[in-house]
Amino acid sequence: MADLKYKTPLLDELEKGEWPSFVKELKRAAAKKPMADGLLGQLEKSYRDKQTYWKHGGLVGVQGYGAGIIGRYTALADQFPEVTAFHTVRINQPAGWFYSSKALRQLCDIWDKHGSGMLNLHGSTGDFVLLGTTSEELEDTFTEYSAAGWDLGGSSSDMRTPSCCNGMARCEFACFDTMALCQDLTMTYQDELHRPAFPYKFKIKIAGCPNDCVASIARSDLSIMGTWKDDIQVDQAEMAAYAKAGKDIQGEVVGMCPTACMSWDGKAMKINNKQCNRCMHCINVLPKALRAGKVRGATILVGGKAPILEGAQLGSVVVPFMPMKAPFSEIKELIQKLWDVWGENGNNRERIGEFMLRVGVGNFMESIELAPDPQMVLHPRENPYIFYEEYFEEE
Ligand code: HEM
Ligand code: HEM
Ligand code: SF4
Ligand code: SF4
Repeated sequence: MADLKYKTPLLDELEKGEWPSFVKELKRAAAKKPMADGLLGQLEKSYRDKQTYWKHGGLVGVQGYGAGIIGRYTALADQFPEVTAFHTVRINQPAGWFYSSKALRQLCDIWDKHGSGMLNLHGSTGDFVLLGTTSEELEDTFTEYSAAGWDLGGSSSDMRTPSCCNGMARCEFACFDTMALCQDLTMTYQDELHRPAFPYKFKIKIAGCPNDCVASIARSDLSIMGTWKDDIQVDQAEMAAYAKAGKDIQGEVVGMCPTACMSWDGKAMKINNKQCNRCMHCINVLPKALRAGKVRGATILVGGKAPILEGAQLGSVVVPFMPMKAPFSEIKELIQKLWDVWGENGNNRERIGEFMLRVGVGNFMESIELAPDPQMVLHPRENPYIFYEEYFEEE
C-alpha cells in the first residue's frame, strides 16, 4: 500500500480475514485521494475515542436547487484538514437501479475528478450516493453530471427521490409496473423534489407485491404496494407435482397461512379468498402452482418512518386497492391531498405519520376525503378510529 499519512492500527484489524473490507477499499481510495486518507485518520481516532467527530448539517447546495446535497464538516479540521468539508451528493438513481456499465463508468469518472471517489450504493434513500467533496467543487460537479443527463436527488424537507423494486423487469410477482410509476412520479414532482417546501421529508417507495422488497412499509411516508383484488390463481396440476416431489404442503403452506384460510386434502388446494390477507407466503413457497389474482393494483399505506420525534412506525393502510396504470391519476390525486393537508397543518419537522397520530386517524382520513374503515383499529380491543356521535346527532 502506498504511504498513507495516518497510522490506523485499529482499522487495520478490519482488513484481516477473507471477506471484503471497507478499510481495504478506503486505503485504495486514499492512495489516490488525500480526502480518503483524512477520512481514515479521523475514523481511527473515532474508534479510539469512541465518539464521532463529524459536525452535522450546514447548508450547501448548487444554483437553482434547494436540495440534493448534504453538508458535512469535520470538527477536527486542524488535525484532519483533508476532510474539513466532506459533503454528500445524491444523484437520482434510475427506477429499479438499472445502469449500463457505461453509465456507471461515467458516474464514477466524474466523481473521481471532483470528489473523494467514494460511493454508497444505494442507501435507504435509493439514490446513487457520492460521499465527500468540498464546497468549491459542488457547482462543477453538478454542472458535469447535469450535462451528462443526471440529476440530483432529494434531501431536506422535500419529496425525497422516489424508489421502487425492479418488479416487472425481473420478478414474476410484480402486480404492476413499479418502474413506470417511479419514473412518472419523479418527473411529475420535479419541483417538490428539488425545492424543499414541506414540514419535513416525504418518501415514496414502491413495491410490486406485498413481499415489499424495498421495505416501503417501514421506510416511506407513502408506501405503494402491489396487490390483487380477486382470487389467487391455483394450478391444481402443479399442486399435485409439488406434492409428488415431496413438498410438505400441509406443514409449510396451509399450516402457516396466517389467516388459516387454506385447505389441502392431498388432491386439491382450496383457498377461502375472502379471508386471505395477501401475505404472499403461499405464493412464495409454491410459485409454480399459485399466483396473484388477475385484478391487480396496489394498496396504499401512509405514515411509515424511523424514530425521530416519536418511535418507529409502519405505514397504515389508507386505500386497500387502487388501480395502478398510467397516467396514474388516482395516486397523484391522493398525493396532492396528503401534501395539502399535511403541508397546511403539519408542524415543523413532523412526519406525516406523526401528524396522522396527532390529529387522529379518523380526522386525518376525513381530511383526505377517504372513508375510515372498521379494520383501521390500531390493535384489537382498542377504540376503533370511528366515532358515532356525529351520526347520532344527524338523526
Ligand atoms: C454514529 C454516527 C452515525 C450514525 C448512527 C448514522 C446513522 C445514519 C443512518 C441510520 C442513516 C440512514 C441510512 C440509509 O438511509 O441508508 C444515515 C444516512 C446518512 N448518513 Fe449517517 N450516521 C452516522 C454518521 C454519519 C457521518 C459521520 C456522516 C458523514 C460524514 C454521515 C452521513 C450520512 C449521509 C450522507 C446519509 C445519507 C445516505 C444516503 O443518502 O443514503 N453519517 N446515517
Ligand atoms: C348487538 C349487540 C352487541 C354488539 C354489536 C357488540 C359489539 C361489541 C364490540 C364491537 C366490542 C369491542 C370488541 C373489542 O374490544 O375488540 C364489544 C365489547 C364488549 N361487549 Fe359487546 N356488543 C353487543 C352486545 C353486548 C352485550 C349485550 C353485552 C353485555 C351483556 C356486551 C358486553 C361487552 C363487553 C363486556 C365488551 C368488552 C369486552 C372486552 O374488552 O374484552 N356486549 N362489544
Ligand atoms: S416487492 Fe414483490 S414484485 Fe417487487 S421484487 Fe419483491 S417480490 Fe418482486
Ligand atoms: S397469501 Fe397468505 S393469507 Fe393468503 S392464502 Fe396465501 S398464505 Fe394465506
